[in-house]
Amino acid sequence: MSGQWWRDAVLYQIYPRSFADSDGDGIGDLPGITARLDHVAQLGADAIWLSPFYPSPQADFGYDISDYESVDPVYGTLDDFDAMVTAAHSRGIRVVIDIVMNHTSDEHPWFLESRSDRTNPKRDWYIWADPAPDGGPPNNWLSAFERCGTAWKLDAATGQYYLHSFTPGQPDLNWRNPDVHAAMHKVWQFWLDRGVDGFRIDVAHRLMKDPQLRDNPPEVAHARRHFSHPVVRQRNLDLPEVHDVLRDLRVVLDGYGDRFALGEVPISDDARLATYFGGDGMQTAFHIAFWEQPWDARAFRRCIDGLVARTRTDALPTYALSTHDISRTVSRYGIEHAPVAAMMMLTLRGVACVYYGEEIGMADAPPALEQDVDGRDGQRTPMQWDATGGFTTGNPWLPLAADQHVVNVAAQADDPGSLLNLYRRLIAYRRGSEDLRRGGYVSLDSPAEVFAYRRGDLLVALNFADHPVAFDVPGDAAGRVEVSTRLDREGVVSMRPLELEACEGVVLRLSVENLPGQNLPGQNLPGQDAAEAAP
Ligand code: NOJ
Repeated sequence: MSGQWWRDAVLYQIYPRSFADSDGDGIGDLPGITARLDHVAQLGADAIWLSPFYPSPQADFGYDISDYESVDPVYGTLDDFDAMVTAAHSRGIRVVIDIVMNHTSDEHPWFLESRSDRTNPKRDWYIWADPAPDGGPPNNWLSAFERCGTAWKLDAATGQYYLHSFTPGQPDLNWRNPDVHAAMHKVWQFWLDRGVDGFRIDVAHRLMKDPQLRDNPPEVAHARRHFSHPVVRQRNLDLPEVHDVLRDLRVVLDGYGDRFALGEVPISDDARLATYFGGDGMQTAFHIAFWEQPWDARAFRRCIDGLVARTRTDALPTYALSTHDISRTVSRYGIEHAPVAAMMMLTLRGVACVYYGEEIGMADAPPALEQDVDGRDGQRTPMQWDATGGFTTGNPWLPLAADQHVVNVAAQADDPGSLLNLYRRLIAYRRGSEDLRRGGYVSLDSPAEVFAYRRGDLLVALNFADHPVAFDVPGDAAGRVEVSTRLDREGVVSMRPLELEACEGVVLRLSVENLPGQNLPGQNLPGQDAAEAAP
């Protein structure tokens, strides 16, 4: 476990509620995760990222924290957490935890004090404002959740509104108050002292708001999240002062050695997003646009090249195909495209993040409308371990998907052609490949159905189409198959033309004399990590 481990890491996102239930109450928990760590080890992931497990009234399924330094009893205890960290570390798996710093729960003691009285010392820990002259919300800011409308809620007892960028159960903290900063500083230390290897920072770009709480300009007033506008900026997110907080976090992380921060920064503008990673703040951030692309090779190429062009050469984004917030890969793109999608995510230049169940091709399983408590339940259903489900001995908090009998870990574990074994092969290959771990990236011209790129001395060619495609790879005659989405592809294949089956992806080693893109400076592709091969 040494130096800058995160740079080529594969993370595995666990939604604790849905991964494994150890006590039969139908809700996943920390001992359940500990008991299933061998699955993560066999997959080859470097770290797990845990969505929130803190005490919470669950207004936003744990993203509303009522105690930052504890574990919700439904998920276990701090001792269970420590045992999980120890068990993970003993397998060489690091532990990254979600931390929500933009807001707390409205049941957090800080907020209870804050709302108790206008003169309470913690009043200024949150963002309070007088009503507008007509008695309405202080300004035109909107909650990120459409169902919530305005981002303000009136507290009748004290006659002021408080800001909630998400649900009313999630009041925004006032990061301009140094006491808030200091309190959260202690929270970081609390978890780092317990051995966590990093944080995933929830909505990192939202930590600061306009101190005068001015309206958002009309051009962007309708936007619930970052809105890309050439000139006009929003006043409730992506303020320059956010970076001061993130820099301070980095200083704390660096004080602990090899720890890291991964930002959730839903910003659509590449240049703005690029300011959030690779500098002296967070090391990496999700490339949100990546999981928003349609299944179209050109769209992915544009999306990836767009951010790469605006990113410092030593900076790395994080690629994920799915998370607890979005529809699963298989449901968006189809099971037939899952292998190529996996190969793409795991061969790009950046951190990769696999959402639990993605590796077996779990699909969304939205419960009946009256049972759907959040609207995002469909992508949060319990992990499918075996033909009986294997998630709980009790009544699962969400019904398991109907395909659990066929789509499950046990059914795929020993099948060399399964999606699970493709993920394992790709991750193992990535771990052993200097080109994937440290090589640069440059995309290549190819037919519209194909997304092709070089990583060091490798060529990755991905056929997005449901039909075969053949094309001449410029500059070379042949390449050796390193990994393919098909098991029967091996040896040396022609590049004149390179023939790809429907929905096939290949990683080929090129002969050094005949690299495509030879006009590039030697083997130093853009972004090559030469300078940091050493920890
Ligand atoms: C992003 C999280 O991923 C999402 O689940 C949550 O609802 C919001 N942030 C608010 O914390």
